[in-house]
Amino acid sequence: MLYGCFTTQTVTTDVYLIKFCFQNWPDSQCVQILHNQVPALRKGALLMVCDALVPPPGGMSLVDERTVKCVVVPIFLPHPRS
Ligand SMILES: C[S@@+](CC[C@H](N)C(=O)[O-])C[C@H]1O[C@@H](n2cnc3c(N)ncnc32)[C@H](O)[C@@H]1O
Repeated sequence: MLYGCFTTQTVTTDVYLIKFCFQNWPDSQCVQILHNQVPALRKGALLMVCDALVPPPGGMSLVDERTVKCVVVPIFLPHPRS
């Protein structure tokens, strides 16, 4: 089923998965996407997010940090979050 994440969620189910989507949007629009799910959430429903996180600066080795900055962020993580 097609769903535009900037519209209110109308499908009612037990589990929702948002996978590798938040990396494409700034924080304000990620918040809007999450808000749009709320009307459909039943008691006990799970809203799962699968996305990539990077440690804050200094949180990994210099080699890994350079790899993330030069390769991972430009290709896969337009909006990396820690
Ligand atoms: C990085 S891909 C992730 C795809 C999939 N979730 C996965 O894990 O392989 C981001 C997806 O968001 C979809 N997308 C972009 N704008 C959207 C919108 N407004 N509503 C719903 N999906 C959207 C794109 O079509 C794309 O498939």
